[in-house]
Amino acid sequence: MAIKEDIQISSLPAHIAVIMDGNGRWAKAQGKLRTFGHESGVKAVRDTVEACAELGVSYLTLYAFSTENWNRPKFEINALMTLLVSTIAGETKTLMDNNIRLDTIGDTNALPSKARRELEEAKKKTASNTRMTLVLALSYSSRWEITKAVKEISEKVKSGDLSPENVNEQLIASHLNTAGMPDPELLIRTSGEHRISNFLLWQISYAELYFTDKLWPDFRREDLYDAIISFQQRERRFGKTSEQIKTV
Ligand code: IPE
Ligand code: IPE
Ligand code: MG
Repeated sequence: MAIKEDIQISSLPAHIAVIMDGNGRWAKAQGKLRTFGHESGVKAVRDTVEACAELGVSYLTLYAFSTENWNRPKFEINALMTLLVSTIAGETKTLMDNNIRLDTIGDTNALPSKARRELEEAKKKTASNTRMTLVLALSYSSRWEITKAVKEISEKVKSGDLSPENVNEQLIASHLNTAGMPDPELLIRTSGEHRISNFLLWQISYAELYFTDKLWPDFRREDLYDAIISFQQRERRFGKTSEQIKTV
């Protein structure tokens, strides 16, 4: 098990993204309702957020609810939305105490009005915090985000405000929900599933992927340290050869 001292602070990933998976299986393993797993996942969120802020990670994005999750049973969706409202309300003070700014990506208009209001309030309150940005992906999917960006760009071309020659990677990135954020350098997924599930497809082009069998409610800061240490042991070549990287 990793300890904090094994991490090289000078080469931290600037942005860590997490697919928090396995709440349902965690609960079922103890004969409990899936919703109990979601409630128990809040502790893992708190620990991960705190640990990232303490280390000096600039951005942490947590995949909390996907576009596809709207297809779950109504009972579970309602429980997740209620949990979202109570968690935001309960954690805003901690965000303030730790100088953490809250942001969201995804179709937040699709969320119940109570959740929208709670999020808006927390975002406003924490807007000038500078230590770390915590981004919650809510009603988010990458294909939704890219489709929206393509629509916006097409409208600009149609109206004559933009010429097709000026469509480049920077312009596309600036139309995504993550505009202005650095791309995630490390993507963590818990629960042993080795897939991306429609998360940040554009942004993770060169992210290092880290998978752990731990179920999300069991994930703690030591597991985050393990992931960061694994990240720091990898050679990131970005298409170049190993020799080129070493001579830089
Ligand atoms: C992740 O845990 C939380 C959300 C997707 C909201 P799951 O609810 O997907 O748990 P498993 O994967 O079914 O165990
Ligand atoms: C991905 O988990 C979405 C979130 C963690 C919010 P899922 O559990 O929904 O993913 P799949 O359906 O197993 O791919
Ligand atoms: Mg799952």
